[in-house]
Amino acid sequence: MVETAYAGAQAAARHRVPSPRADFTISQDWGAYTAEEHDIWRTLFHRQESVLKGRACEEFLAGVQALGVVADAIPDFRRLNDALRAATGWSIVAVPGLVPDAVFFEHLANRRFPSTCFIRRRDQLDYLQEPDVFHDIFGHVPMLMNPVFADYMQAYGQGGLKALGLGALHRLARLYWYTVEFGLIETAAGLRIYGSGIVSSKGESVYCLEDARPNRLGFDLMRVMRTQYRIDDFQVTYFAIRSFDELFDATRPDFTPYYAELARMPDLEAATVLASDRVLQRGTSD
Ligand SMILES: [Fe+2]
Repeated sequence: MVETAYAGAQAAARHRVPSPRADFTISQDWGAYTAEEHDIWRTLFHRQESVLKGRACEEFLAGVQALGVVADAIPDFRRLNDALRAATGWSIVAVPGLVPDAVFFEHLANRRFPSTCFIRRRDQLDYLQEPDVFHDIFGHVPMLMNPVFADYMQAYGQGGLKALGLGALHRLARLYWYTVEFGLIETAAGLRIYGSGIVSSKGESVYCLEDARPNRLGFDLMRVMRTQYRIDDFQVTYFAIRSFDELFDATRPDFTPYYAELARMPDLEAATVLASDRVLQRGTSD
């Protein structure tokens, strides 16, 4: 079992790395991408486009369309920001990779999404532990076109700043992990994906819905914040929300009393299934 305090923001910087500004932002330097790097984006985009039909939720697919992310080339963040600002007031800021937790939360709390710029190598198409520009842009940003999810992400940033002072960051990191990164949603057509770690992974997009091995459990805020996770393999448990409103409403209250209650409860291993869990059926790709 491997767990970091905040795995989602811990990226190694390998791309061109100019000195970051005080808020850790840099210029994307779009003109510096090579033809090979654009081609890797194209390959990744086409693979996910076909695998996500019938597997990703409607909100994600609509976000890809409305944002104007396409296969042709690694997107220029300035162009995406026009659509993103108009839709929900969010914007993408380029970062070199690793940003301190407080900086990450400060950006989210101000509706700025920090994105890495570098793209994985061709021999890393199937798996990369750290986030790259494909994960950050294709995986995360389409959901920021959805107004409810956009508000959830801002509230998450505000909650993160508060959790820093309460020593509860690992609780909140689990919430991010099991929703923003690896979340599923129940729909009339069956389970669908909205988590960025899944939608940017060909293998996990199929595995999370159709493989017999992982648990698929109904979302419960306290349950999620007790549950450890792994960062080095496909997940052994996924949590499914019923709607984005449910997610936002569950996380609206002040978490301070929740953290106090959680401090008295044992952590749960990722594979644990409790008698009180709502166990969901496998999804299909119809
Ligand atoms: Fe991520």
